[in-house]
Amino acid sequence: MKHTDIKQLFASPETYVNKKVTVCGWVRTARASKSIIFIELNDGTCLKNIQLIIEESENAFETAKTSLAVGTALCVTGKVVESERNGYEMIENQITVLGECPSDFPLQKKHHTLEYLRTIPHLRPRTRFFEAMFAVRNELSYAIHKYFHEHGYKYVHTPILTGSDCEGAGEMFRVTTQPWKTSHKTEGEYYADDFFGTKASLTVSGQLEGEIAAMGLGKIYTFGPTFRAEHSNTPRHAAEFWHIEPEVCFCDLHDIIEIAEDFIKFIIREVMRTCPEELAFFNERAEKGLIEKLEAVVSHDFAKVSYTDAVEILKNSNKEFKFPVEWGADLQTEHEKYLTDEHFKKPVFVTDYPAKIKSFYMKQNPDGQTVAATDLLVPGVGEIIGCSEREADLGKLEDAMKKRNMPLEAYGEYIATRKFGSVPHSGFGLGLERILMYVTGVSNIRDTLLYPRTVGSL
Ligand code: 4AD
Ligand code: MG
Repeated sequence: MKHTDIKQLFASPETYVNKKVTVCGWVRTARASKSIIFIELNDGTCLKNIQLIIEESENAFETAKTSLAVGTALCVTGKVVESERNGYEMIENQITVLGECPSDFPLQKKHHTLEYLRTIPHLRPRTRFFEAMFAVRNELSYAIHKYFHEHGYKYVHTPILTGSDCEGAGEMFRVTTQPWKTSHKTEGEYYADDFFGTKASLTVSGQLEGEIAAMGLGKIYTFGPTFRAEHSNTPRHAAEFWHIEPEVCFCDLHDIIEIAEDFIKFIIREVMRTCPEELAFFNERAEKGLIEKLEAVVSHDFAKVSYTDAVEILKNSNKEFKFPVEWGADLQTEHEKYLTDEHFKKPVFVTDYPAKIKSFYMKQNPDGQTVAATDLLVPGVGEIIGCSEREADLGKLEDAMKKRNMPLEAYGEYIATRKFGSVPHSGFGLGLERILMYVTGVSNIRDTLLYPRTVGSL
Protein backbone atom coordinates (compact mmCIF):
# COMPACT_ATOMS: atom_id res chain seq x y z
CA MET A 1 0.00 0.00 0.00
CA LYS A 2 1.74 3.18 -1.11
CA HIS A 3 1.54 5.72 1.70
CA THR A 4 3.61 8.13 3.77
CA ASP A 5 4.53 7.58 7.42
CA ILE A 6 3.12 10.32 9.63
CA LYS A 7 6.57 10.65 11.20
CA GLN A 8 8.00 11.41 7.77
CA LEU A 9 5.29 13.96 7.10
CA PHE A 10 6.11 15.91 10.28
CA ALA A 11 9.86 15.46 9.81
CA SER A 12 9.99 17.21 6.44
CA PRO A 13 6.66 19.00 5.94
CA GLU A 14 8.11 21.27 3.25
CA THR A 15 8.13 18.19 0.96
CA TYR A 16 4.41 17.63 1.46
CA VAL A 17 2.76 20.97 2.11
CA ASN A 18 0.09 21.93 -0.46
CA LYS A 19 0.46 18.49 -2.05
CA LYS A 20 -1.71 15.40 -2.01
CA VAL A 21 -0.46 12.68 0.32
CA THR A 22 -1.75 9.30 1.46
CA VAL A 23 -1.51 8.29 5.13
CA CYS A 24 -2.82 5.22 6.94
CA GLY A 25 -3.55 4.80 10.63
CA TRP A 26 -6.06 4.38 13.42
CA VAL A 27 -8.52 6.94 14.70
CA ARG A 28 -7.32 8.25 18.07
CA THR A 29 -10.08 10.80 18.63
CA ALA A 30 -12.80 12.36 16.51
CA ARG A 31 -15.21 15.27 16.88
CA ALA A 32 -18.16 15.97 14.64
CA SER A 33 -20.53 18.89 14.38
CA LYS A 34 -23.24 19.39 11.78
CA SER A 35 -20.90 21.02 9.33
CA ILE A 36 -17.38 19.80 10.12
CA ILE A 37 -15.53 16.67 11.32
CA PHE A 38 -12.10 16.53 12.95
CA ILE A 39 -10.26 13.19 13.10
CA GLU A 40 -6.92 12.61 14.82
CA LEU A 41 -5.10 9.79 13.05
CA ASN A 42 -2.06 7.93 14.43
CA ASP A 43 -0.01 5.31 12.61
CA GLY A 44 2.46 4.34 15.35
CA THR A 45 5.50 5.82 13.60
CA CYS A 46 5.56 8.79 15.99
CA LEU A 47 3.67 10.16 18.96
CA LYS A 48 2.07 12.94 16.91
CA ASN A 49 -1.33 12.51 15.26
CA ILE A 50 -2.24 14.10 11.97
CA GLN A 51 -5.54 15.98 12.09
CA LEU A 52 -7.96 15.40 9.22
CA ILE A 53 -10.58 18.02 8.49
CA ILE A 54 -13.69 17.06 6.55
CA GLU A 55 -16.34 19.62 5.65
CA GLU A 56 -20.02 18.98 5.06
CA SER A 57 -19.79 19.91 1.38
CA GLU A 58 -17.22 17.17 0.70
CA ASN A 59 -17.93 13.65 -0.57
CA ALA A 60 -15.95 12.13 2.31
CA PHE A 61 -18.30 13.64 4.91
CA GLU A 62 -20.69 10.66 4.92
CA THR A 63 -17.83 8.11 5.15
CA ALA A 64 -16.16 10.16 7.87
CA LYS A 65 -19.40 10.30 9.88
CA THR A 66 -19.56 6.50 10.00
CA SER A 67 -15.86 6.01 10.77
CA LEU A 68 -15.50 8.20 13.86
CA ALA A 69 -15.18 5.27 16.26
CA VAL A 70 -11.87 5.21 18.14
CA GLY A 71 -9.65 2.45 16.77
CA THR A 72 -11.06 2.45 13.24
CA ALA A 73 -8.35 1.89 10.62
CA LEU A 74 -8.32 4.36 7.73
CA CYS A 75 -6.43 5.09 4.55
CA VAL A 76 -6.69 8.78 3.69
CA THR A 77 -5.54 10.82 0.72
CA GLY A 78 -5.70 14.58 1.23
CA LYS A 79 -3.89 17.87 0.95
CA VAL A 80 -1.37 18.87 3.60
CA VAL A 81 -1.78 22.45 4.79
CA GLU A 82 -0.11 24.54 7.46
CA SER A 83 -2.21 25.22 10.53
CA GLU A 84 -1.69 27.47 13.49
CA ARG A 85 -2.89 24.96 16.07
CA ASN A 86 -1.44 21.68 14.81
CA GLY A 87 1.50 22.72 12.69
CA TYR A 88 0.09 20.75 9.79
CA GLU A 89 -3.24 19.13 9.02
CA MET A 90 -4.98 17.52 6.05
CA ILE A 91 -7.95 18.87 4.09
CA GLU A 92 -9.86 17.80 0.97
CA ASN A 93 -9.67 14.18 2.11
CA GLN A 94 -10.78 10.97 0.46
CA ILE A 95 -11.27 8.23 3.04
CA THR A 96 -11.21 4.46 2.77
CA VAL A 97 -12.12 2.42 5.82
CA LEU A 98 -9.62 -0.44 6.17
CA GLY A 99 -11.06 -1.93 9.33
CA GLU A 100 -14.06 -0.96 11.43
CA CYS A 101 -13.78 -0.84 15.20
CA PRO A 102 -16.89 -1.73 17.19
CA SER A 103 -17.77 -0.02 20.46
CA ASP A 104 -16.45 -2.86 22.63
CA PHE A 105 -12.88 -1.72 21.75
CA PRO A 106 -11.52 -1.23 25.28
CA LEU A 107 -9.43 1.89 24.67
CA GLN A 108 -12.15 4.51 24.58
CA LYS A 109 -10.76 6.87 27.23
CA LYS A 110 -7.81 9.20 26.75
CA HIS A 111 -5.98 7.87 29.82
CA HIS A 112 -6.11 4.34 31.13
CA THR A 113 -4.21 3.18 34.19
CA LEU A 114 -1.10 1.09 33.59
CA GLU A 115 -2.63 -1.61 35.80
CA TYR A 116 -5.65 -1.83 33.52
CA LEU A 117 -3.50 -1.83 30.39
CA ARG A 118 -1.56 -4.82 31.75
CA THR A 119 -4.78 -6.83 31.45
CA ILE A 120 -4.93 -6.11 27.68
CA PRO A 121 -1.31 -6.50 26.52
CA HIS A 122 -2.47 -7.18 22.95
CA LEU A 123 -3.88 -3.65 22.72
CA ARG A 124 -1.21 -1.74 24.65
CA PRO A 125 0.77 -0.82 21.51
CA ARG A 126 -2.28 1.23 20.44
CA THR A 127 -1.73 3.66 23.32
CA ARG A 128 0.53 6.70 23.45
CA PHE A 129 2.27 5.32 26.52
CA PHE A 130 3.39 2.15 24.82
CA GLU A 131 4.12 3.87 21.55
CA ALA A 132 6.54 6.05 23.51
CA MET A 133 7.92 3.06 25.44
CA PHE A 134 8.63 0.99 22.35
CA ALA A 135 10.17 3.98 20.60
CA VAL A 136 12.61 4.46 23.50
CA ARG A 137 13.25 0.72 23.76
CA ASN A 138 14.06 0.65 20.07
CA GLU A 139 16.44 3.62 20.18
CA LEU A 140 18.09 2.36 23.35
CA SER A 141 18.75 -1.03 21.74
CA TYR A 142 20.17 0.64 18.66
CA ALA A 143 22.38 2.89 20.80
CA ILE A 144 23.74 -0.16 22.65
CA HIS A 145 24.78 -1.81 19.41
CA LYS A 146 26.17 1.51 18.18
CA TYR A 147 28.36 1.99 21.24
CA PHE A 148 29.96 -1.43 21.02
CA HIS A 149 30.26 -1.35 17.26
CA GLU A 150 32.00 2.03 17.34
CA HIS A 151 34.38 0.77 20.03
CA GLY A 152 35.45 -2.35 18.12
CA TYR A 153 33.54 -5.01 20.07
CA LYS A 154 32.25 -8.07 18.22
CA TYR A 155 28.62 -8.99 18.74
CA VAL A 156 28.52 -12.71 19.52
CA HIS A 157 25.43 -14.84 19.93
CA THR A 158 25.77 -17.10 22.94
CA PRO A 159 23.48 -20.11 23.22
CA ILE A 160 20.07 -19.87 24.82
CA LEU A 161 19.83 -23.60 25.42
CA THR A 162 22.49 -24.59 27.90
CA GLY A 163 23.73 -27.48 29.95
CA SER A 164 25.62 -25.26 32.39
CA ASP A 165 24.32 -23.22 35.24
CA CYS A 166 26.20 -19.91 35.06
CA GLU A 167 25.33 -18.12 38.26
CA GLY A 168 24.46 -20.95 40.62
CA ALA A 169 21.55 -23.34 41.05
CA GLY A 170 17.89 -22.73 41.60
CA GLU A 171 16.84 -20.13 39.05
CA MET A 172 16.79 -22.04 35.79
CA PHE A 173 13.91 -23.05 33.58
CA ARG A 174 14.31 -26.64 32.44
CA VAL A 175 13.90 -27.52 28.79
CA THR A 176 12.53 -30.93 27.96
CA THR A 177 10.68 -32.82 25.25
CA GLN A 178 9.97 -35.75 27.55
CA PRO A 179 6.42 -36.83 28.04
CA TRP A 180 5.45 -37.68 31.57
CA LYS A 181 6.57 -41.21 32.41
CA THR A 182 7.03 -43.17 35.58
CA SER A 183 9.47 -45.73 34.21
CA HIS A 184 12.74 -43.86 35.00
CA LYS A 185 14.32 -45.14 38.16
CA THR A 186 16.80 -42.29 38.70
CA GLU A 187 17.14 -38.64 37.78
CA GLY A 188 20.13 -39.56 35.59
CA GLU A 189 18.07 -42.08 33.67
CA TYR A 190 15.35 -39.53 33.15
CA TYR A 191 17.71 -36.93 31.70
CA ALA A 192 19.61 -39.49 29.59
CA ASP A 193 16.35 -40.28 27.85
CA ASP A 194 15.68 -36.62 26.99
CA PHE A 195 16.36 -34.71 23.74
CA PHE A 196 20.00 -33.80 24.46
CA GLY A 197 20.69 -36.91 26.50
CA THR A 198 21.38 -34.65 29.46
CA LYS A 199 19.68 -32.03 31.59
CA ALA A 200 19.06 -28.83 29.59
CA SER A 201 17.90 -25.36 30.62
CA LEU A 202 17.33 -21.83 29.34
CA THR A 203 20.36 -19.66 30.00
CA VAL A 204 20.43 -17.15 32.88
CA SER A 205 23.45 -15.37 31.38
CA GLY A 206 25.71 -15.61 28.34
CA GLN A 207 28.75 -14.71 30.40
CA LEU A 208 30.64 -18.00 30.51
CA GLU A 209 30.34 -18.48 26.75
CA GLY A 210 31.06 -14.76 26.34
CA GLU A 211 34.33 -15.20 28.24
CA ILE A 212 35.26 -18.08 25.97
CA ALA A 213 34.64 -15.90 22.90
CA ALA A 214 36.53 -12.93 24.38
CA MET A 215 39.54 -15.16 25.12
CA GLY A 216 40.22 -15.20 21.38
CA LEU A 217 38.38 -12.21 19.98
CA GLY A 218 39.61 -9.70 22.58
CA LYS A 219 36.40 -7.85 23.27
CA ILE A 220 32.86 -8.99 22.64
CA TYR A 221 29.32 -8.35 23.77
CA THR A 222 26.14 -10.34 23.81
CA PHE A 223 22.63 -8.92 23.65
CA GLY A 224 19.88 -11.46 23.93
CA PRO A 225 17.10 -12.84 26.06
CA THR A 226 17.91 -14.54 29.36
CA PHE A 227 15.59 -16.38 31.68
CA ARG A 228 15.36 -16.57 35.45
CA ALA A 229 12.85 -18.56 37.42
CA GLU A 230 13.04 -16.14 40.31
CA HIS A 231 10.05 -16.23 42.55
CA SER A 232 10.56 -12.62 43.55
CA ASN A 233 7.34 -10.96 42.49
CA THR A 234 8.71 -7.41 42.45
CA PRO A 235 8.36 -4.44 40.12
CA ARG A 236 11.97 -5.05 38.96
CA HIS A 237 12.08 -8.77 38.17
CA ALA A 238 10.97 -10.46 34.98
CA ALA A 239 11.34 -14.16 34.22
CA GLU A 240 12.43 -13.26 30.68
CA PHE A 241 14.57 -10.17 30.18
CA TRP A 242 17.04 -8.85 27.63
CA HIS A 243 20.61 -8.90 28.79
CA ILE A 244 23.61 -6.98 27.47
CA GLU A 245 26.93 -8.56 28.48
CA PRO A 246 30.28 -7.19 27.27
CA GLU A 247 33.46 -9.12 28.07
CA VAL A 248 36.83 -7.42 27.71
CA CYS A 249 40.33 -8.91 27.81
CA PHE A 250 43.36 -7.08 29.21
CA CYS A 251 40.99 -5.12 31.45
CA ASP A 252 40.80 -4.87 35.25
CA LEU A 253 37.94 -3.75 37.50
CA HIS A 254 39.00 -0.12 37.33
CA ASP A 255 38.98 -0.23 33.50
CA ILE A 256 35.61 -1.95 33.23
CA ILE A 257 34.01 0.58 35.59
CA GLU A 258 35.23 3.35 33.28
CA ILE A 259 33.77 1.51 30.28
CA ALA A 260 30.43 0.92 32.02
CA GLU A 261 30.07 4.60 32.97
CA ASP A 262 31.01 5.80 29.49
CA PHE A 263 28.59 3.29 27.95
CA ILE A 264 25.63 4.23 30.16
CA LYS A 265 26.17 7.94 29.49
CA PHE A 266 26.46 7.30 25.75
CA ILE A 267 23.21 5.35 25.47
CA ILE A 268 21.30 7.88 27.58
CA ARG A 269 22.64 10.74 25.44
CA GLU A 270 21.56 8.88 22.31
CA VAL A 271 18.02 8.44 23.61
CA MET A 272 17.87 12.11 24.60
CA ARG A 273 18.90 12.99 21.05
CA THR A 274 16.57 10.58 19.25
CA CYS A 275 13.48 10.57 21.51
CA PRO A 276 12.88 14.12 22.80
CA GLU A 277 9.09 13.90 22.43
CA GLU A 278 8.88 10.52 24.11
CA LEU A 279 11.01 11.71 27.03
CA ALA A 280 8.89 14.85 27.35
CA PHE A 281 5.86 12.55 27.50
CA PHE A 282 7.40 10.40 30.26
CA ASN A 283 8.47 13.56 32.06
CA GLU A 284 4.73 14.36 32.32
CA ARG A 285 3.27 10.90 32.76
CA ALA A 286 5.88 8.84 34.64
CA GLU A 287 8.46 10.94 36.50
CA LYS A 288 8.39 14.69 37.00
CA GLY A 289 11.91 16.01 36.52
CA LEU A 290 12.96 13.06 34.35
CA ILE A 291 14.74 15.14 31.72
CA GLU A 292 16.60 17.16 34.33
CA LYS A 293 17.65 13.90 35.98
CA LEU A 294 18.99 12.49 32.71
CA GLU A 295 20.84 15.72 31.94
CA ALA A 296 22.52 15.53 35.33
CA VAL A 297 23.41 11.86 34.83
CA VAL A 298 25.23 12.43 31.55
CA SER A 299 27.13 15.47 32.79
CA HIS A 300 28.41 14.34 36.21
CA ASP A 301 30.70 11.57 37.43
CA PHE A 302 29.03 8.55 38.97
CA ALA A 303 29.80 7.95 42.65
CA LYS A 304 31.99 5.08 43.85
CA VAL A 305 31.96 3.48 47.26
CA SER A 306 33.34 0.23 48.59
CA TYR A 307 30.90 -2.27 50.05
CA THR A 308 32.69 -1.87 53.39
CA ASP A 309 32.22 1.91 53.38
CA ALA A 310 28.63 1.52 52.20
CA VAL A 311 27.93 -0.66 55.23
CA GLU A 312 29.35 2.10 57.46
CA ILE A 313 27.18 4.73 55.73
CA LEU A 314 24.10 2.57 56.32
CA LYS A 315 25.00 1.92 59.95
CA ASN A 316 25.48 5.65 60.56
CA SER A 317 22.27 6.61 58.81
CA ASN A 318 20.06 6.29 61.90
CA LYS A 319 17.50 4.63 59.67
CA GLU A 320 15.33 1.78 60.86
CA PHE A 321 15.88 -0.96 58.28
CA LYS A 322 13.78 -4.12 58.15
CA PHE A 323 16.93 -6.15 57.45
CA PRO A 324 19.85 -5.44 59.78
CA VAL A 325 23.00 -4.04 58.20
CA GLU A 326 25.97 -6.24 58.85
CA TRP A 327 29.30 -6.67 57.07
CA GLY A 328 29.01 -9.90 55.07
CA ALA A 329 25.28 -9.74 54.40
CA ASP A 330 23.93 -8.88 50.96
CA LEU A 331 22.54 -5.38 50.53
CA GLN A 332 18.74 -5.46 50.50
CA THR A 333 16.55 -3.27 48.31
CA GLU A 334 15.93 -0.88 51.23
CA HIS A 335 19.70 -0.49 51.75
CA GLU A 336 20.35 0.15 48.08
CA LYS A 337 17.49 2.62 48.05
CA TYR A 338 18.96 4.57 50.94
CA LEU A 339 22.36 4.73 49.23
CA THR A 340 21.01 5.90 45.86
CA ASP A 341 17.92 7.96 46.74
CA GLU A 342 19.04 9.58 49.99
CA HIS A 343 22.81 9.45 50.33
CA PHE A 344 24.43 9.73 46.89
CA LYS A 345 21.36 10.89 44.91
CA LYS A 346 23.00 9.68 41.69
CA PRO A 347 24.29 6.45 40.16
CA VAL A 348 26.81 4.72 42.40
CA PHE A 349 29.21 1.84 41.85
CA VAL A 350 29.41 -0.27 45.01
CA THR A 351 32.70 -2.19 44.81
CA ASP A 352 34.55 -5.04 46.49
CA TYR A 353 31.76 -7.15 47.93
CA PRO A 354 32.39 -10.03 50.33
CA ALA A 355 33.37 -13.11 48.30
CA LYS A 356 30.79 -15.25 50.12
CA ILE A 357 27.78 -13.43 48.66
CA LYS A 358 29.11 -13.24 45.09
CA SER A 359 29.83 -15.69 42.25
CA PHE A 360 32.71 -18.14 41.96
CA TYR A 361 34.25 -16.50 38.88
CA MET A 362 35.01 -13.13 40.47
CA LYS A 363 38.62 -12.11 41.06
CA GLN A 364 39.68 -12.61 44.64
CA ASN A 365 41.15 -9.50 46.24
CA PRO A 366 44.45 -9.71 48.17
CA ASP A 367 42.56 -9.21 51.49
CA GLY A 368 41.23 -12.78 51.13
CA GLN A 369 37.72 -11.56 52.04
CA THR A 370 36.38 -9.58 49.12
CA VAL A 371 36.17 -9.84 45.33
CA ALA A 372 36.79 -7.30 42.56
CA ALA A 373 33.12 -6.93 41.75
CA THR A 374 30.76 -3.99 41.50
CA ASP A 375 27.06 -3.35 41.18
CA LEU A 376 25.87 -0.12 39.60
CA LEU A 377 22.91 1.16 41.60
CA VAL A 378 20.69 4.01 40.40
CA PRO A 379 18.01 6.06 42.17
CA GLY A 380 14.49 4.72 41.78
CA VAL A 381 15.45 1.39 40.22
CA GLY A 382 18.35 -0.04 42.23
CA GLU A 383 20.81 -2.42 40.57
CA ILE A 384 21.06 -2.05 36.81
CA ILE A 385 24.52 -3.57 36.29
CA GLY A 386 26.32 -6.54 37.85
CA CYS A 387 30.04 -6.41 37.04
CA SER A 388 33.36 -7.96 37.94
CA GLU A 389 36.93 -8.63 37.05
CA ARG A 390 37.16 -12.39 36.49
CA GLU A 391 39.50 -14.66 38.43
CA ALA A 392 42.26 -15.34 35.90
CA ASP A 393 44.36 -17.60 38.12
CA LEU A 394 43.65 -21.29 37.50
CA GLY A 395 44.35 -22.45 41.05
CA LYS A 396 42.32 -19.70 42.71
CA LEU A 397 39.38 -20.28 40.36
CA GLU A 398 39.37 -24.01 41.10
CA ASP A 399 39.57 -23.34 44.84
CA ALA A 400 36.57 -21.01 44.68
CA MET A 401 34.60 -23.65 42.81
CA LYS A 402 35.54 -26.40 45.25
CA LYS A 403 34.51 -24.19 48.18
CA ARG A 404 31.07 -23.93 46.57
CA ASN A 405 30.89 -27.70 45.93
CA MET A 406 30.72 -27.13 42.19
CA PRO A 407 31.39 -30.07 39.86
CA LEU A 408 34.67 -29.00 38.21
CA GLU A 409 34.36 -31.58 35.44
CA ALA A 410 31.21 -29.86 34.17
CA TYR A 411 33.18 -26.61 33.70
CA GLY A 412 36.20 -28.12 31.94
CA GLU A 413 36.07 -25.82 28.92
CA TYR A 414 35.67 -22.71 31.06
CA ILE A 415 38.54 -23.70 33.32
CA ALA A 416 40.70 -24.36 30.25
CA THR A 417 40.65 -20.64 29.43
CA ARG A 418 42.72 -20.11 32.61
CA LYS A 419 45.11 -22.88 31.65
CA PHE A 420 45.88 -21.80 28.08
CA GLY A 421 47.13 -18.22 27.98
CA SER A 422 45.03 -16.77 30.79
CA VAL A 423 44.69 -12.96 30.82
CA PRO A 424 43.14 -10.39 33.13
CA HIS A 425 39.61 -9.76 31.89
CA SER A 426 36.38 -8.20 33.05
CA GLY A 427 32.76 -7.85 32.05
CA PHE A 428 29.33 -6.79 33.14
CA GLY A 429 25.65 -7.50 32.62
CA LEU A 430 23.06 -4.79 32.07
CA GLY A 431 19.34 -5.58 32.11
CA LEU A 432 17.71 -3.77 29.19
CA GLU A 433 14.39 -3.39 31.03
CA ARG A 434 16.13 -2.00 34.13
CA ILE A 435 17.89 0.77 32.19
CA LEU A 436 14.64 1.38 30.31
CA MET A 437 12.87 1.92 33.64
CA TYR A 438 15.57 4.39 34.62
CA VAL A 439 15.47 6.29 31.32
CA THR A 440 11.67 6.53 31.18
CA GLY A 441 10.96 6.87 34.90
CA VAL A 442 8.50 3.98 34.69
CA SER A 443 8.32 2.15 38.00
CA ASN A 444 7.21 -1.34 36.94
CA ILE A 445 9.20 -3.64 34.67
CA ARG A 446 5.90 -5.03 33.34
CA ASP A 447 5.41 -1.75 31.47
CA THR A 448 8.67 -2.02 29.53
CA LEU A 449 7.98 -5.37 27.84
CA LEU A 450 5.55 -6.32 25.07
CA TYR A 451 4.53 -9.46 26.96
CA PRO A 452 5.99 -9.46 30.47
CA ARG A 453 6.63 -12.91 31.91
CA THR A 454 6.58 -13.00 35.69
CA VAL A 455 5.98 -15.68 38.30
CA GLY A 456 2.43 -16.98 37.90
CA SER A 457 1.81 -14.99 34.70
CA LEU A 458 2.63 -16.16 31.18
O1 4AD B 1 23.85 -9.27 38.41
P1 4AD B 1 23.53 -10.34 37.42
O2 4AD B 1 22.88 -11.57 37.91
O3 4AD B 1 24.90 -10.65 36.68
C1 4AD B 1 25.09 -11.60 35.73
O4 4AD B 1 24.25 -12.27 35.22
C2 4AD B 1 26.52 -11.62 35.22
N1 4AD B 1 26.71 -12.87 34.51
C3 4AD B 1 26.75 -10.41 34.36
C4 4AD B 1 28.14 -10.38 33.78
O5 4AD B 1 29.06 -10.06 34.50
N2 4AD B 1 28.26 -10.66 32.50
O6 4AD B 1 22.59 -9.73 36.28
C5 4AD B 1 23.01 -8.62 35.53
C6 4AD B 1 21.87 -7.63 35.36
C7 4AD B 1 21.33 -7.07 36.66
O7 4AD B 1 22.14 -6.04 37.15
C8 4AD B 1 19.97 -6.58 36.21
O8 4AD B 1 20.07 -5.35 35.52
C9 4AD B 1 19.57 -7.64 35.21
O9 4AD B 1 20.74 -8.26 34.76
N3 4AD B 1 18.68 -8.63 35.82
C10 4AD B 1 17.35 -8.66 35.67
N4 4AD B 1 16.52 -7.84 35.01
C11 4AD B 1 15.20 -8.12 35.03
N5 4AD B 1 14.67 -9.18 35.68
C12 4AD B 1 15.47 -10.03 36.35
N6 4AD B 1 14.94 -11.10 36.97
C13 4AD B 1 16.87 -9.79 36.37
N7 4AD B 1 17.94 -10.41 36.92
C14 4AD B 1 19.03 -9.70 36.57
MG1 MG C 1 23.43 -8.86 40.35
